[in-house]
This record gives sequence, C-alpha cells and structure tokens, in this order.
Amino acid sequence: MQIIEVGVIGAGQMGNGIAQVIAQAGYKVKLCDLNAAALEAALFTINKNLDFLVNKEKISQQQKEITLTRIECHQDLSALANADLVIEAIVENEKIKSDLFKQLDGICKDSCILASNTSSISISKLANATHRAERVIGLHFMNPVPQMKLVEVIPALQTNSDIFNLCFALMENLGKNPVKVEDIPGFAANRILIPMINEAIFCLYEGVASAEEIDTISQLGMSHKMGPLALADLIGLDTCLSIMEVLYDGFKDSKYRPCPLLVQMVSAGRFGRKSGQGFYSYLKKTA
Ligand code: NAI
Repeated sequence: MQIIEVGVIGAGQMGNGIAQVIAQAGYKVKLCDLNAAALEAALFTINKNLDFLVNKEKISQQQKEITLTRIECHQDLSALANADLVIEAIVENEKIKSDLFKQLDGICKDSCILASNTSSISISKLANATHRAERVIGLHFMNPVPQMKLVEVIPALQTNSDIFNLCFALMENLGKNPVKVEDIPGFAANRILIPMINEAIFCLYEGVASAEEIDTISQLGMSHKMGPLALADLIGLDTCLSIMEVLYDGFKDSKYRPCPLLVQMVSAGRFGRKSGQGFYSYLKKTA
C-alpha cells in the first residue's frame, strides 16, 4: 500500500503542524476543520513557519511555495473520500473522537488508515468505533510539531502489524523519530509529563511558590527548556485536564487526581495561550 494523500482533521496548533510536516515531505494534504477561521489561522501559521525556514536557509522560496500548493483546506469531511491516511487532531474528548471515527469509517475508502493524535485516549476504543479496527493507530506528535522529533506510535490491540510498520516508516520519512508505545492511558510521554505539570499546579495552589518561581526552579534546577506552568499554557489547560481525567479514570489511582486549580481555570475558560490567559497572560496590551 502506498500513501499519497493524507487527511488531517483539526486545524488547531497540532493539526496545522502535522499538515505542514506532511506537505514538506511531499504528500498531498487535505486539512479539515469545522471552523473556517481555524483553517485560515492554520494557513497563516504554516506560511509564517515556512518563511522562518526560508530565512534560515533551511528551505528555498520555491520549496516553500511547492509545500503550500500541496495543502488544501476543507470544512466538509467528504473531501477525505480518497485519502490513504487520515490523522485526527480535534479536541481531546473520547465521545467526540469516537463519533468522528464512526463518521470517517463511512466516508473514507476501505483501505484508508485512520490515525489519532490523541494525547491519552485509548486507541483500542477508537478502533472499536469503526469496522476497520485493524487499520486504526495512534500517531502522537509533540508540540510544536515542526520542531519536535518524537512521535509515539501506538498500536491498538486490534492493529495489523503491516499497518503499524507502514505508519512507523512514514514517521521516519517525515524526519521524525518514532517510538513504539503500548495503548495504556497517557501512553508514555504524557503519563510522565502531565502528572508533573499537575504537581506544579498543586505547588501554585498551595502557595509553595509563585508561577514564575516554579518555572524558574524547573528551568534552572532541572535544566528544563520551559517551566511546567508555561508548558501547560502552551499545551492548553483544557487538554492537560482531559489527560489527567483519562489517567485518573484509567488507573483509578488517586495520584492522578487533577488539581482543583486546574479544574477551576478550565471552567473559567482560561486555557492558556490559545485563549489569551492561563498561568500567564498572552493578551496584547492596549495603550
Ligand atoms: P486545538 O484546540 O488547538 O485545535 C482543535 C481544532 O479541532 C480546532 O480548530 C477545532 O475547531 C477543531 N475541531 C474540533 N472538533 C472538530 C470536528 N468534529 N471536526 C473537525 N474539526 C474539529 O487543539 P490541539 O492542541 O491542536 O489538540 C488537538 C489534539 O492533539 C488533541 O487530541 C490533543 O490532546 C492532541 N495533542 C495536543 C498537544 C498539545 O500540546 N496541545 C500535543 C500532542 C497531542
């Protein structure tokens, strides 16, 4: 089986990065989102990221233009009827993702592989929502996608080994470093990272230190590139909370209980960078 056309669903921060790296590797991409503004913002971001690479002389102006011609935007999922692989990167919610997989099962050709960029949700469960469970897989890219080398490749219990090998090789083709991880809540990356972020939020909640101080401690004391609270704002607090809930439900272990401050911030619509306010403010100051 050959991958020629790839669908990416969800044009948010992950979807636009995935669309960019796939187009740069020479594949045709159909980027889909319910929201026209999200598609417009995604194209703007991809254009800006490619300009950065041109300015750094990593790619030529001509390569940038060819990459952009490979990306088509759609609001209607029926555009994916001929895709060989579809990667969804929509909201981290099991019911919404399962419904999408069911819908894609009816739209996409029988040979199409359905992948999820989920941070934590069971791939076996998403596979079970379709009639092609053996062609469903997890491809967990890291944020920001164009810069981060790691992709967790997660077979569902049902995934066919040829499909796994094809997807693993495709990630290498994109210039990524894929690592096989089992389909256990949070996989490996977020099972390690998100409880650490949650603990940092508990430190803030209990007044152990301020947000800036907690982030300074991680950066200067542990050589982390970003502090956990700044990283939570980048990931999205809604996504961090969803992952903690999957860990808590999946393991039934109180060590994964989400910090009440995280719950409160999500309830207040403070999602981090994408909403303009999280542990830090990203709102443009008006004079
Ligand atoms: P986001 O909130 O930036 O973007 C989600 C996009 O999906 C939005 O543009 C929204 O309009 C669209 N959408 C929602 N429902 C849809 C539907 N039914 N059909 C089509 N479009 C729909 O979210 P983000 O951060 O890009 O996350 C997406 C996925 O990637 C989640 O599953 C998340 O857990 C995962 N992920 C996130 C990472 C992060 O650092 N934010 C890292 C790795 C994975």
